[in-house]
Amino acid sequence: MPIEDLMWVEKYRPHNLEDVINQTDVKERLRPLLEKQQQMPHLLFAGPPGSGKTTLAQIVAEKILGDLKSDYTLSLNASDERGINTVRERVKVFASYSDRREGVPFRLVILDEADEMTRDAQTALRRIMEESSRFTRFILVCNYSSNIIEPIQSRCAIFRFQRVGSDEVVGYLRKIAKNEKVKTTEKVLESVYEATNGDLRQAINLLQAAAADGEVTMERVDAVTGALVRGRAAEIVNLALDGDFAGARQKLVELTKVYGIPESDFLRYSNETITAGAPHMAEAIKILAEYDYRLVLGANPEIQLTAMLAELAALKGK
Ligand SMILES: Nc1ncnc2c1ncn2[C@@H]1O[C@H](COP(=O)(O)OP(=O)(O)OP(=O)(O)O)[C@@H](O)[C@H]1O
Ligand SMILES: [Mg+2]
Repeated sequence: MPIEDLMWVEKYRPHNLEDVINQTDVKERLRPLLEKQQQMPHLLFAGPPGSGKTTLAQIVAEKILGDLKSDYTLSLNASDERGINTVRERVKVFASYSDRREGVPFRLVILDEADEMTRDAQTALRRIMEESSRFTRFILVCNYSSNIIEPIQSRCAIFRFQRVGSDEVVGYLRKIAKNEKVKTTEKVLESVYEATNGDLRQAINLLQAAAADGEVTMERVDAVTGALVRGRAAEIVNLALDGDFAGARQKLVELTKVYGIPESDFLRYSNETITAGAPHMAEAIKILAEYDYRLVLGANPEIQLTAMLAELAALKGK
């Protein structure tokens, strides 16, 4: 079976504007651009995870380039290296080809998670955008447009994506469940929404992970979210131990916001990660114990956990 059919997020990824749920403003503004292709500006898609940004970028590419999409689109995402060299080499080479072909208005560069590009790389990108704009259009995708340098922002039409609401997520999940012949209830689907807070990718993945023997139950959803949270907590601790305090802190905020997990759970999962053989294990556990104690005394959890990550990150240099 092809991977697209195994993963429900791929199997149910929309291929037409009409099938994208929510994002009404974005779709309305995109539609005329797809009709007058020559006039299409560079696009900047910004918004929360799992709201359809990558999906819409791919739809734009499909509508504009049709069967030639794979030849005339360069897609780079976070797993690719994003330093200045990649931008210079891969993007520049691709963007500056000027071969024209019937039915191809321009080449398309899709830079997913563009806000993770270094500033230097963004500056280089800006220059490439200027130099190649006759033959090439860029679609930049990011969570926060404020992380994109101003000169790039001002060269793009900015599209802001909204978090998808509960009714729409539940409705979408209901359709998938029906199509996959998986038994479930409204209450279970609502709990999937609550655990994933409008991130459709996570919601669909959770539904699939929790679907066993043709049924999704509350118990299965709880079991899977437990595992998800455990994985996220481990990621945060490892980032901190690697010295990346800012990254760890941002993920911590996401975790507490998205999952609303109790601090004590976070500490418990952190302990599991550290005792599994983290670097500086002894010192790290002492730090954990100290903050565990402070939380019991009733200190502000957000401040304490952030301070804990700072201390863990400081171990890196030792
Ligand atoms: N608005 C939407 N309508 C329909 N399906 C959606 C929508 N948004 C997301 N999905 C589903 O979630 C999956 C992931 O969406 P997508 O990759 O477009 O998210 P994204 O906004 O790029 O998120 P991220 O910021 O995490 O990359 C899609 O394959 C699709 O199944
Ligand atoms: Mg994406």
